[in-house]
Amino acid sequence: MDNSVGATSESNDSTSTAGAFENRELILVSNREPYVHERDDEEIRVVKPEGGLTSALDPMMASTGGTWVAWASGDADDEVSDENGCVRVPPDSPSYELKRVFLTDEQVTNYYYGYSNKVLWPLCHSDTAKMEPKAQFWRHYRETNRQFAEAIREQTNPSNAVIWFQDYHFALAPRYVREASPDAFCMQFWHIPWPSWDVFQSCPQYDELLDGLLANDLLGFHLDQYCRNFLDCVSRTLDAEVDRENGRIRYDGRTIRVAAFPLGIDAAERNALAQSTEADEQWESLRESYPLPEDGRIAVGVDRLDYTKGIEQRLAALEHLWEWYPEHREQLTYVQKASESRSRIEEYQQVQTNVKKKIEQINDRFETENWQPVVYVDDYLPLSALAALYREADVCLVSSLRDGMNLVAKEYVASQVDEPGVLVLSELVGAHEELGESALTVHPNDTESFAATIQQALAMEPSERSTRMETMRQQVESNDIDAWKRNVLRQANKILEQKDEAATA
Ligand code: F6P
Repeated sequence: MDNSVGATSESNDSTSTAGAFENRELILVSNREPYVHERDDEEIRVVKPEGGLTSALDPMMASTGGTWVAWASGDADDEVSDENGCVRVPPDSPSYELKRVFLTDEQVTNYYYGYSNKVLWPLCHSDTAKMEPKAQFWRHYRETNRQFAEAIREQTNPSNAVIWFQDYHFALAPRYVREASPDAFCMQFWHIPWPSWDVFQSCPQYDELLDGLLANDLLGFHLDQYCRNFLDCVSRTLDAEVDRENGRIRYDGRTIRVAAFPLGIDAAERNALAQSTEADEQWESLRESYPLPEDGRIAVGVDRLDYTKGIEQRLAALEHLWEWYPEHREQLTYVQKASESRSRIEEYQQVQTNVKKKIEQINDRFETENWQPVVYVDDYLPLSALAALYREADVCLVSSLRDGMNLVAKEYVASQVDEPGVLVLSELVGAHEELGESALTVHPNDTESFAATIQQALAMEPSERSTRMETMRQQVESNDIDAWKRNVLRQANKILEQKDEAATA
């Protein structure tokens, strides 16, 4: 029996995302905005946030048009927006509207840092000991979700739109939209894992969260497993009919479709970048700025400094490798590209401190006159520099303790345009489902075997590396960001057609 939750992956066809929905405007809603306006003395700079979500969806919005509703996080956002908080973007060739939602510091503290990142983030990554379910976080999460729903209504009549919520910041907003506009079409993509019921139950607001999400018509997750967990949570909590086989829920007189859409990257862009002269120049400049080896081998890790990424576990495995396989001393250099994230949260400060301490300790232990074992890069790197780093790395280490998908694994594969390297991949990341057979699998908490797997990667014959990498490259290319968008939009259009037919019957 095919136990996948609904079939969503169809072969590529020419369906483009331009003019995504007949007669309906697309309203995309995310917490992060795609362009941030920052004041720099007399000037205003436009900054593009580093996150995968915004960079993946901006080109789609540029081609479909519509409105993107997001938190105004830049200190000059209000100066460049009109009286409705709107500004046309992309700045170089404006093609869609960015509507900014202005939040107070108290809201940012309680809705973003609080409920989103101290409750839902650890909950969905099954790390319930880190949850801080304070009442004021929940109050502000509710209030802010309501504010976003109002911002959508200010912008459009939801009955004539497709409202596409992104991620865990908006579990309640679909319900608030539907309360005011019962015939709205809402859909949501949840970019992080959905945990099993026994974990999800740790959250005191579990039933309200599920009720909010079931105000959507379509709900997407990266993996079938997350869909199954979600359906299980609904069946145990709400008075709903759950059809697990077809990923359908009947609730409150409506049908909600739940399906898996594994997120991809712009593989063609990454591939081209890795072959560009810009990448060559960036590589030269990285070599001038950092103690990178002339000859030896390079392993790379690229992460937001988040406790879910397993960076400390990875460093422990590397330390074990240099201890037990001394032939890799002076031969293997590990480059850790790190970006600060959510630094107002203590656990994130702790990760920053621990990672730096561990790196210092490893370097003190093994460093020689000609070799620094771990090179830490926390400067901003343009995409072409990142492409060069991925291209030159013999091994990429992805060791998350839990990760919805992990696009770094896919970026590494798409950037392997020279001598193929090896992907070492934690079995606990979403991407393992697509790439696990050709990557080398590790369990991040099994330090000795993790170290032995790095050793195996470094010893792998070129022909085996090449076969494995070729399979992964095909996988990443055919399941790229365009395929993801096509699949989501096709599914949404199918539901819309069925709804229209039912309304006219
Ligand atoms: O993985 C979930 C996610 O929301 C990504 O989509 C995004 O790139 C990342 O977290 C960054 O989070 P934040 O917006 O909190 O910096």
